[in-house]
Amino acid sequence: MPKLVVVNRAGEEKTVEASAGLSVMEAIRDNGFDELLALCGGCCSCATCHIHVDADWAAKLPAMSEDENDLLDSSDHRGETSRLSCQIQLTDALDGLKVTIAPED
Ligand code: FES
Repeated sequence: MPKLVVVNRAGEEKTVEASAGLSVMEAIRDNGFDELLALCGGCCSCATCHIHVDADWAAKLPAMSEDENDLLDSSDHRGETSRLSCQIQLTDALDGLKVTIAPED
């Protein structure tokens, strides 16, 4: 099971385990982080699952779709490594992925 390191909005870091095949959003939500609203349930239409990916990992993720890119543009907190966590599927290759929950828009 891949490990995922999550930093919440208070800056607290927690390592969780999640099954490969889940999205990063599902893994965060299922582990009790209530800051990640994920209002649309993962269908790439709300941007409330915005995360900042650790710089060491950003290039290892699959490229984002145009829809994801457009939605991230609607955030005031978009940074160089911003992603929508519902659009990243956990795999064993992403074991140790570190992400920070983006500030609320
Ligand atoms: S949960 Fe809505 S875009 Fe990710």
